Amino acid sequence: MSSAVWPDLRSMAFGGDYNPEQWPREVWRDDVRLMREAGVNLVSIGIFSWALIEVREGEFDFSWLDEIIELLHENGIAVDLGTPTASPPAWFFANHPDARAVTADGVPLGFGSRGMASHSAPAYRDAAVRIATELAQRYGSHPAVVLWHVHNEYGVPVGEDFSDHSVREWRLWLQERYGTLDALNAAWGTAFWGQHYGEWAHVGAPATAPSVINPAQRLDFARFTDSQLRACFVAERDAIRAHSDRPITTNFMANQHNGCDLWAWAREVDIVSDDHYLWAADEEGEIGLAIAADLTRSVGGGAPWILMEHSTSAVNWQPRNVAKRRGEMARNSLSHVGRGADGILFFQWRAGRSGAEKFHSAMLPHAGETSRVFREVVDLGAKLGTLDEVLGSRVHADVAVLWDFESFWAQDLEWRPSVDVGHAERIRAFYERLWRDNITVDFALPGHDLSGYKLVIAPAQYLLSGADADNLNRYVEQGGTLVVSFFSAVVDENDAVHSGGFLAPLAPALGVTVEEHLPLREGDTGGVDFGGSTLTVDVWQEDLTLVGAETRGVYTDGPGTGGAAITRHRHGAGIGWYISTRPDADGLAAIMTEVYADAGIAPAELPTGVEAIRRRGVDADYLVAINHGTDAVSLPTSGVNLLTQDDIRGMLVLQPGDVAVVREPHTASGGGR
Ligand code: GLA
Repeated sequence: MSSAVWPDLRSMAFGGDYNPEQWPREVWRDDVRLMREAGVNLVSIGIFSWALIEVREGEFDFSWLDEIIELLHENGIAVDLGTPTASPPAWFFANHPDARAVTADGVPLGFGSRGMASHSAPAYRDAAVRIATELAQRYGSHPAVVLWHVHNEYGVPVGEDFSDHSVREWRLWLQERYGTLDALNAAWGTAFWGQHYGEWAHVGAPATAPSVINPAQRLDFARFTDSQLRACFVAERDAIRAHSDRPITTNFMANQHNGCDLWAWAREVDIVSDDHYLWAADEEGEIGLAIAADLTRSVGGGAPWILMEHSTSAVNWQPRNVAKRRGEMARNSLSHVGRGADGILFFQWRAGRSGAEKFHSAMLPHAGETSRVFREVVDLGAKLGTLDEVLGSRVHADVAVLWDFESFWAQDLEWRPSVDVGHAERIRAFYERLWRDNITVDFALPGHDLSGYKLVIAPAQYLLSGADADNLNRYVEQGGTLVVSFFSAVVDENDAVHSGGFLAPLAPALGVTVEEHLPLREGDTGGVDFGGSTLTVDVWQEDLTLVGAETRGVYTDGPGTGGAAITRHRHGAGIGWYISTRPDADGLAAIMTEVYADAGIAPAELPTGVEAIRRRGVDADYLVAINHGTDAVSLPTSGVNLLTQDDIRGMLVLQPGDVAVVREPHTASGGGR
């Protein structure tokens, strides 16, 4: 079947960032030979090449780019052409010193690294559009160019900007949002600490101040920054669009908190693409990977997407950069494929000898073509080459986990009740439970149409607007099962506590409100009696007021002792659960067993360490199975393992560390396990 990623993609995209400008011509020929050996069919070029394309302001040299694009084309390797605007040249900063981004402490950011200029500086906006236009005019219909890669990872390393250009645009953005200063004063609650504004010109960016800055102002500045970065993307995209009909993307950083609301960004790109790197300190990095991949698919509405970057082995920017062991790169890649990716690319093709990233792994490491990593790259290319028919197939999920960037931005601000409460930690805890139960998950916003999901989980919905609360209440009323974790529905979109108190907007669905937060001291634990067994909890308890809910767990130890800890409420045709504390993994498993029963969800009984996801195609399903464990395992399926062409009759045996993609007849559910 043809891919929804781009119409004439016939095989899984496979390749990586390629920086030929760092190498002499003879190396280019070697690169192309080895790319062919590895089955590379797509490379991203030009991402950091501004200084070598626009050599002086307005003076362009395309000769090397012409040459490399032709060489790649002659060898059947397609090009994902970058616009190099994440790294303006030295001449840009020399000619336009006012365009430098400025930190919250008032420090203008210098040259010698990488990073864009001020997102609001007219000189930067103009220069970015100019080079995007030049590239699109020259290569927009070149047969090698199949995709545009605008910029690189918007939001890092430069996001929030406190320059004069930014402050000017910020005031305009606020005027657009609020209309009047009275409305701004009300939304920001400026009666507090005497922050009332009488002139627009007095409204500044939330730069470093003597004490904690107005959180509503901070939240709006995050929204503003996101919208300015997106405007930079849209300007480049539209400049390209005027000269090229090829799809346009920019590489996201799902799950990396770079200040971009990816739900909004996904609406602007033709194809969603993502960069993902394992956290070496996380011994089960495959779970974090799955979160990022599921989020990437979800922001794109379930459409196939491209993994634009990951690493073949170690990265270079973490405190301890752990190398991937044999087979890990393939397991990571196949997990992305299982979760909807139609392309697997890396940073980068050939390891660079100079510069800040010389200790970063690559498809072709410093050790060369006989290295373990390169041989595994060749093997991965061959594996992906068997998956043409998987292109365009989709993942189905019965469970949605709420993921709301605005809520995270607000929750992460200062002076919250406990530093031990983190949105990412709560999402990981619930997601991890679902991952271990082999239940496939989509992410969603609280305002989305959730009616297709049997179960919706809100692990960290600190900020919840009245309209979104209504949506969740309606979801339950109409038969859904909702689970809400503590410190949710606390504030509205202006970071003001809901009138009626914490959790009040969800009282219809949950039958409970929160009278007082009861955070625990560092390291303290408490207990909850849950159906006769005692769950260990920590970090947080609450004093609840029941308004219709039944008590399912009671605090037995800690400041909440004697009060309800876990509640369940029937609302209309559905059920709302509230968990007012942080249970340990076993405790959460016990609670979720009951939740699954309410939602009519059956976890798949698979051997420990096995990850199994299905993609649904037109004529068949594709079961992607990964054995992360150290023992051989068997799992029930029948069909053909596309990676080996083996017939599987009833039981797939997966050796430790092995992967399989089984073409199966459609299942009744068609969904994930
Ligand atoms: C990011 C960037 C790449 C490279 C990698 C290294 O994802 O986009 O240019 O720096 O990190 O891991």
